[in-house]
Amino acid sequence: MQNFKAMTRGILAAGAVVAVTAAGVAHASDAGEIKYRKGVMKAVGGHMNALVAIVKGETANKGDMADLAKGMLTLAKIAQHVFPKGSDAMGGETDALSKIWDEPDKFAKVRMAFVDHARNVVTAAESGDTKALGAAVGALGKNACKACHDDYRKKKK
Ligand code: HEC
Repeated sequence: MQNFKAMTRGILAAGAVVAVTAAGVAHASDAGEIKYRKGVMKAVGGHMNALVAIVKGETANKGDMADLAKGMLTLAKIAQHVFPKGSDAMGGETDALSKIWDEPDKFAKVRMAFVDHARNVVTAAESGDTKALGAAVGALGKNACKACHDDYRKKKK
């Protein structure tokens, strides 16, 4: 028993070393920040698609709407810090326009509108009313996603 405990401690300690080493090897970079932003935005897009499917009644998983809405709010908060300096086109392949860093005050407004509208989506989802959810998701799409993409994301060819 004593041996088993010691062994467990040994395994835990070894695990901790691996974790620390992994954290030490990968270090933040501009290209990494771009990759991270794209990952976060993909998750945002996934939540949007799922919410829209619920609004349209295309799925029986209506019961997920509050959780999806809360996920969207969490992602909106995360999205506040996915535009660090250096994560522009100089840092790697990105669709983010340099305007983001040229007009930080204007950009902050649309970025924060994301949080405000996501909060409204949570309120609507918690009401259980898909009509209210549809209106809130529509407002989020127009005033956050589209507003920001129109001004700050490279146009798709
Ligand atoms: C504050 C600005 C802003 C808001 C708000 C915003 N986006 Fe984005 N989004 C961007 C930028 C900039 C990019 C390009 C990222 C890059 O290439 O580095 C992007 C990229 C994306 C991508 C592509 C990710 C990839 O694979 O490269 C998707 C999908 C996306 N956004 C969905 C959404 C949805 C859905 C919403 C609203 C719920 C939203 N975004 C809100 C700025 C925003």
